Amino acid sequence: MERTLSIVKPDGVSKKLIGEVIKRFESHGLRVIGLKMIWMNKKEAEGFYAVHRGKSFYESLTNFMSSGPSVVMVLEGENAISKTRELMGATDPKKAEEGTLRRQYASNIEQNIVHGSDAPETAASEISYFFNALEIFPL
Ligand code: CDP
Ligand code: MG
Repeated sequence: MERTLSIVKPDGVSKKLIGEVIKRFESHGLRVIGLKMIWMNKKEAEGFYAVHRGKSFYESLTNFMSSGPSVVMVLEGENAISKTRELMGATDPKKAEEGTLRRQYASNIEQNIVHGSDAPETAASEISYFFNALEIFPL
């Protein structure tokens, strides 16, 4: 069993894709064990994406992530990290596989509707960035 953090980004919320994203994860064996809607401020978005500080897209990305509400969730399941990323597809929707969430719904490489952690260590730190122990409900 593994846990990961996913986010329906502000463009996904605005495009009414919250249900679609959750359905995709749930129907592929993942369980939602934590869930909430938040509106990150610029500082919170900068903290979340601190690993990308200094990159050309950092300023625009953190403006985008603080431009509206997001839905953050903790997913649990076998190989939750790789499964989530497989269902999301590549960062750039043009390079994402047919049938993936980003290929289907993303507008561009920045506004790509969904986030998923990329490794066990980042999953743990990203989960604790948004959730405390009392907000996670493993069954
Ligand atoms: O989200 P993912 O792990 O697939 O990609 P990343 O390389 O960790 O980048 C984080 C986020 O930054 C992406 O999901 C995009 O929203 C954004 N990004 C961007 O705007 N331009 C890029 N060239 C790369 C990433
Ligand atoms: Mg990433």
